[in-house]
Amino acid sequence: MVETSKSAFVTGWPVTHSRSPLIHGHWLKAHKLDGDYVKHGVPPEDLNALFNAVRQGHWLGGNVTLPHKEAAFTLVDELHGTAKRLGAVNTVWHQDGRLHGTNTDGAGFLANLDERSAGWDSDEKRGRGALVLGAGGAAQAIVVALQDRRFAPVFIANRTVEKAQKLAAEFGPPCRALSLQEATSAAINVAFIVNTTSVGMDGQSSPISVEGFAQDCLVNDIIYTPLETPLLAAARKRGLPVVDGLGMLLHQAVPGFERWFGVRPTVTEELRTLILRDLGVVA
Ligand code: ATR
Repeated sequence: MVETSKSAFVTGWPVTHSRSPLIHGHWLKAHKLDGDYVKHGVPPEDLNALFNAVRQGHWLGGNVTLPHKEAAFTLVDELHGTAKRLGAVNTVWHQDGRLHGTNTDGAGFLANLDERSAGWDSDEKRGRGALVLGAGGAAQAIVVALQDRRFAPVFIANRTVEKAQKLAAEFGPPCRALSLQEATSAAINVAFIVNTTSVGMDGQSSPISVEGFAQDCLVNDIIYTPLETPLLAAARKRGLPVVDGLGMLLHQAVPGFERWFGVRPTVTEELRTLILRDLGVVA
């Protein structure tokens, strides 16, 4: 186990599938930095001890993934960015003996769209609103990000409509809850649709039909395996602009790397290809 002040981690339980070491390892090499980034899975009962080790400087900090994001929210000393509104922390670091935490999911989501579809958030498009499919943890970060970009309305459509209603009540106007069935007609004019449900990971199913959506509606999926989900494939076939989910994964890693290693890294095509190769999407 590597536990020096030059090291950062990704923790979860388990963390076997995390691609974060590949991303941060690539940036450490690209910037010729003397540091490392390792998988360091801990069970829930050991999270506090790991965080104490960060406070004491035995680690630079790290990423926090399932199932620890909510526990991390309660354990850090200082909350930054959207973490407070989300009740979830995915990035921690230490400063003056205190543990700091933020949530970079929303920033990663926005940076991916800014990079791959400039102008997606023009005044005209914000005014037509957005549709978020799903009401889980990822949906929350995205709803807040869309609110911060002043999209209105922000429709939240979920299979279990009560969960969408809970989110809409929590985040307030401009959010409106819908069932997945209602979403097809109610959001006919929206300029942006994002899938945050797990539907499509099988490569077979889509959470919604794209038939009724505006011809210039940008369609985004946060699933990146497969890279082109059935939703994105259907949208592309209809001639709608699409953005895949890999960029969100890459961009959400940027703020943590900058905190720990002092250099703001960039998301390049080279990095994208590296991850796609690991995912088995390209040879
Ligand atoms: P995450 O934290 O990654 O967002 P999650 O909290 O497990 O993951 O949320 C999964 C989302 O996918 C939920 O919105 C879920 O809908 P329910 O709240 O109704 O469970 C949605 N989802 C999962 N399987 C689905 C399916 N077969 N059809 C429609 N929605 C589905």
